[in-house]
Amino acid sequence: MWSRYLRTREKDGIVAIFHELHPDPVYCSKERWSDLYDNGIANGAEMLINGLKKCKLIINSADDDLREFKMVEANLERKLNQPIILYLMVAQGCNFGCGYCPVPETVNKHGASLLSVEDALAGIELWQKHLKDVYDPTLQYFVIFYGGEPLLNKETIKASLAYLEMKKNVRDLPPNISYMIATNGVLVDEETIAMCKKYKVMMTVGLDGPKEINDVLRVDSDGNGTFDRAVSSIRLLVANKIRTFISASITPFNLDHISECSSFFRDLGVEKFGFNFLKGHMLTKLIGQEGVEDYYRRASRGIIDNARRQGNSGFEYQMEKKQLAFDSGDFYPVDCTCYGNQLVIQPDGQVSNCPFYKSWLGHIKSVSDDFRIWNQPIVREWRKKLPLFHPGEAKAVNGGGCAWSSVDLKGDPAAVDDSSQIFSEEVLNDLIWFRYDRLCAREA
Ligand SMILES: C[S@@+](CC[C@H](N)C(=O)[O-])C[C@H]1O[C@@H](n2cnc3c(N)ncnc32)[C@H](O)[C@@H]1O
Repeated sequence: MWSRYLRTREKDGIVAIFHELHPDPVYCSKERWSDLYDNGIANGAEMLINGLKKCKLIINSADDDLREFKMVEANLERKLNQPIILYLMVAQGCNFGCGYCPVPETVNKHGASLLSVEDALAGIELWQKHLKDVYDPTLQYFVIFYGGEPLLNKETIKASLAYLEMKKNVRDLPPNISYMIATNGVLVDEETIAMCKKYKVMMTVGLDGPKEINDVLRVDSDGNGTFDRAVSSIRLLVANKIRTFISASITPFNLDHISECSSFFRDLGVEKFGFNFLKGHMLTKLIGQEGVEDYYRRASRGIIDNARRQGNSGFEYQMEKKQLAFDSGDFYPVDCTCYGNQLVIQPDGQVSNCPFYKSWLGHIKSVSDDFRIWNQPIVREWRKKLPLFHPGEAKAVNGGGCAWSSVDLKGDPAAVDDSSQIFSEEVLNDLIWFRYDRLCAREA
């Protein structure tokens, strides 16, 4: 019998047949597919039938489908109960006032606090307890210093790094932990460079493209453009051999240029970059509710175009992750680590599952020893949003997007994140036909 997860795409007389939970398409002519599927003519279609059986698209009974779903669900659960990231939100304030960023509003509401050294170290202790439960030597773990602008609080960053290294040295923490600072770059100085070298810290700098585009929205708190200062910091980091990345937000001003981003960022010497869809109400503030779907579609096509123009998808993070999941036949886990993969310590010492959402899970000094982020009710609730549990043919490459954005835009963390849905559908189609073209090229 046919699997209930059997899906097809058709293009130029060719049909791609794939399993919704782990797409590894089988290709055949439209006529052959119609003979087999619509008319049950199996004559001469042995190879096709064998391929479909191998991909679990022809099954023995409905139990096979159920088993497949349970296996994917269990694997996903296992991946989500793994705290791969500790976010230390070292500064709530920022020296920038970017036109799409929610941080200035948060500062108006809650003040511009800095994470104390004491609370940061307590956060590291709690994370260590998480790792003791589920440490996996094959994974890479990260401590990310985030904000606001983290370099406004170098004292806590330095103290945390020293503490983390000390813990690694006495084997309280495993060796496979990397450090990263997500920064706007302008406070990078000799002291920062020395710190990055000493602790092998990676830097992700926010930059949205060339000067005339970047400076429309990425402005400092006095309203001045920031491109020149950000780029000179990037060059300084790269010259000092510090692993440097760029985080590029897709704005109404760079939307038509994103397919050229790879070459622009590559010329700056960075290792990789990642696109961000704008999230939350700052997006609708900029483009209005009626412009949102068009923004998601154009941004999705731009990201795909950018990856295809440069000949591989490895230089841009969003495409790389989906391409890897597709190529390895793995179910793409999540777009965001807020579903149990990260422990966030807010600047006021509150524990949270998301850097942007204040979930007030308790103060780091008062949470109990057996607090685990993956057991928190908010995390369990937010997981219900994940595409595996909803209709959608691109679920195998859809990480569910951002629950905070769904709360902010739709008032419900479980509501579909349309950016993720649209992007995943477009990417799945691209991956299916990109593979077909490569197979044809190999055979020619
Ligand atoms: C919040 S900032 C913090 C780090 C640093 N201050 C910076 O400017 O990169 C981190 C990243 O979030 C992005 N960002 C800001 N507001 C956003 C929004 N509404 N939606 C998506 N990404 C956003 C920024 O462009 C930046 O790349």
